[in-house]
Order: sequence, then C-alpha cells, then structure tokens
Amino acid sequence: MDKLVSLAKRRGFIYPSSEIYGGFANSYNYGPYGVELKNNIKILWWRMFVHQRPDIVGLDGSIILHPKVWEASGHTTGFNDALVDCKSCKNRFRADHLIEAALDQDMEGKPLAAMDKLIKDKKIKCPVCKKSDWTKIRQFNGMFKTHFGTQETEDNLAYLRPETAQAIFVEYKNIIDTMRVKIPFGIAQIGKAFRNEITPGNFIFRTREFEQMEIEYFIREKDWKKVFEKWQTAMEKWAAVIGLDQKNLRTYEHPKEKLSHYSKKTIDIEYKFPFGFKELYGLAYRTDFDLSQHQKYSGANLEYYDQETKERFIPHVIEPTFGVDRTLLALLSEAYTEEMAPTGEGGREVRVVLKLKKELAPVKIAVLPLSKKVSLNKLSKKVFDELSQKYLCEYDETQSIGKRYRRQDEIGTPFCLTVDFESLEDKAVTIRDRDTMKQDRIKIDELLDYFKDKF
Ligand code: GAP
Repeated sequence: MDKLVSLAKRRGFIYPSSEIYGGFANSYNYGPYGVELKNNIKILWWRMFVHQRPDIVGLDGSIILHPKVWEASGHTTGFNDALVDCKSCKNRFRADHLIEAALDQDMEGKPLAAMDKLIKDKKIKCPVCKKSDWTKIRQFNGMFKTHFGTQETEDNLAYLRPETAQAIFVEYKNIIDTMRVKIPFGIAQIGKAFRNEITPGNFIFRTREFEQMEIEYFIREKDWKKVFEKWQTAMEKWAAVIGLDQKNLRTYEHPKEKLSHYSKKTIDIEYKFPFGFKELYGLAYRTDFDLSQHQKYSGANLEYYDQETKERFIPHVIEPTFGVDRTLLALLSEAYTEEMAPTGEGGREVRVVLKLKKELAPVKIAVLPLSKKVSLNKLSKKVFDELSQKYLCEYDETQSIGKRYRRQDEIGTPFCLTVDFESLEDKAVTIRDRDTMKQDRIKIDELLDYFKDKF
C-alpha cells in the first residue's frame, strides 16, 4: 500500500488534499494522470452500461435534493453508525470496527447494548492511547448537513447526498413520462456522494467525499431473482473488462440481520486490496421500498402503467452500484508490477510498471525526441500533433531516454515513441511496448494504422 500511495503522489495521480495548509486528513485530490484514469473508468462504464444498452438511460441529478427525499428514503433516521469515544485521548471510533479489529468478530448491525457490553467485558483498548476508558456507544448520522439558502435555520436544513441512487428514484416519474422506456429498464448515474465516515482510511478506499456509478433497474417483482443473477454476471464481466483478475475477486452475501433497511438481498463484490478482501461493489434487491416511500411522502403517483396488460404497479428494483475511487484503487493495485529489467549499461535493475489496460491508461503514447536539437524537435512535434488528434499523447524531451521510459512505465503509458537522428533520413520512429519492452521501427506515415491496430 505504501508503494501505491507513494507512486500515486510521485507520478501525479493522487495528492493528499490541501497539503500546503498541513493537509486535510483522509481527503485527496486527483492530479493530472489521476483525473485521466478516473475519466477513462467513467467513460468506459457509461459506454458499456448506457450507450451499449437499449434498456438503460442516463441521468445527472443534483447533489442537494429536497430534504424530504432523505426522510422518505430512511436516511435521516436510519443512516447511522455506532460511535464511541475514548475518554482518555478523545479519539472517535466506529464501535463495530473497533470490536472487529480487537476480537476478529463480525459486528455490523449488532445492537448497541451488545457492543457496549463486549467493549467493557473484553476490556478493549484504544488503538491510539492503549487505555480502556470508553463513553457509551451512540448513534451518529452520516449525512453532511448544510443550509439551502441564505438563512441558517432548521427550515433551510438540507443534506449532501450520501448515495446517488435517490435522485434516480425522484426522477423516475419524469423519465417514464418523457422517455420511451418499458419495464425492464434502468436509469444510470455517475456522481459525487458524501458520508461523514467516522473512520475513513486506507487511502482512497474510504473517504468522506467519493464518487459512485449506480444503476437502478426497474423490474416486475416476479423477475427479481433472474435479473439479480444477470446483473451479477454483468458486474463480473465489467471487472474482467477493466483488467481485474478473477482470483482477486470474491462475493460475499449479507446475512439477513446485516441487510440495509431497504434490501431483501445484497451481495458485495470484494476485491483483494493490499489490506485484504474488502467491498469493491454492491448488488442489492431494493424491492419496491424506495418508490413506495417516495409515493407515500410526496403524494405523487409512482405507479407504472403497462399498456399491453393494462396493469398498474410499483416496480421493484435491482441496484448494481460501483465506487469510482475504489475501482481506481483496485486498478492501481492490480496493475502495479515490479520486475527485473536490463539497464542501458548492461546490468539489471528493478523496473516499476503500471500494467493498466490500454483503454484505461491515462496517457496512450509518449513522444520522446532523443535529443533537444531543433531538427528532431520539429519532426517530433509534427508526429505529436498528428497522433494527439486521436490519442492522449505526452511530449517529453527532458532527461535521459532511460529516465523518460521509466517515468512512462510508472504512469502506465502503453507505447513510447522515440524520434532519433535516423528518423530524419528514414522517416521512421521506434516504438517501445510497455509490457514486453520490444521495439518496432515504424514509418511515420504508417503510425495511425499501426496504433489503430494496437488500440
Ligand atoms: N446506493 C447504494 C449504496 O450507496 P453502498 O454499498 O453504501 O451502497 C456503494 O455504496 C459503493 O460506493 C460501494 O460499493 C463503494 O464502492 C462505494 N463507497 C461507499 N462508501 C464509500 C466511501 N466512504 N469511500 C469510497 N467509496 C465508497
């Protein structure tokens, strides 16, 4: 994990937030390569689940919705974590996580009194100061509060969304009224979500501001099992498409007592992160809970009318949900490779290379003139101008060619293109493959065809 965090910062993927002010714990900013990688993930997801599917449409809902939305969805009362304070050092912990770490027992969803008793009986120590002096456990609501408008009053209280899903339920009626959708159909959305996590951590794995890619898939109740299975297969396919190895993935089904208030069945797709198997994605059967609640709280009729059978009913929902940041972390972890490689001087050294899928790599082609001489510079710029119409290219003429290759390997650039003095004569360049380090000599006017084939 330390190696990933260090590479992410050193190579401009992810920086700790607000560093010049001493940092802002557990929050991060995506740097130039981080934003490219993140965008590539989102574009690929949108293409696969929205553009390439006739049954799914997109949405971009707002982060702050009517506060009643969160009453209806159950978040104002139910979106709680068990919080406990160390009286000695004043650090705060999620009680279930504290007990799980100390006793290796699964605690999620256990009653507060049972957890209070365990902390006391087992004399669980504070991980920070090692004392065992705890407050009583209490519920803590994870939604960020704000005021919508100029008055800071209770009436103006609003929340930053803790999941993107609710905007979809709120817009479900507009979508069935304005689009040609027929059940089964889905609405997809990508966007930020905010949770005031008590114990954020593990780099970008658990943060208070993060991004989700979610689909609410509307179905008839009788079809839920079949649709659930189809979505599980579709999610596994997505994981394979982005390059996650099957052996690093597993599924975990939530036992009945751990299910969220809205769910009848939930599975997590877990990934083997450097800190162990943890939730990467989720798949839930949300029943008709959300639409029924919104119908009840808003008074709007959210029934679906089937023109053919003349039936009216509230659709049930299967929800596949994907964390963007966790995808990016899993990809960094999967792609990070150290291998022995020859040095220019005939020795061998460790080469760090990010073996990202070509479609996801932030930079596709690095154009590297062998020297800064004007003659090479002119030809290299011409090559860059032509290729960058089609691919994200980087132009780099600083440092030795060996150092430039190493930098591109660590960024995960699939191809490095070197322009040398011979290029001026033979109108060809050398292309080095990131993974095999094999080099091809390709005519400049054949480059577009060559890369078309490669990508
Ligand atoms: N709409 C359902 C929902 O929000 P969730 O399991 O709470 O379900 C969905 O969250 C996904 O969002 C998770 O599988 C994970 O990838 C991501 N996620 C949740 N909390 C996160 C956090 N604090 N930091 C980063 N990603 C998070």
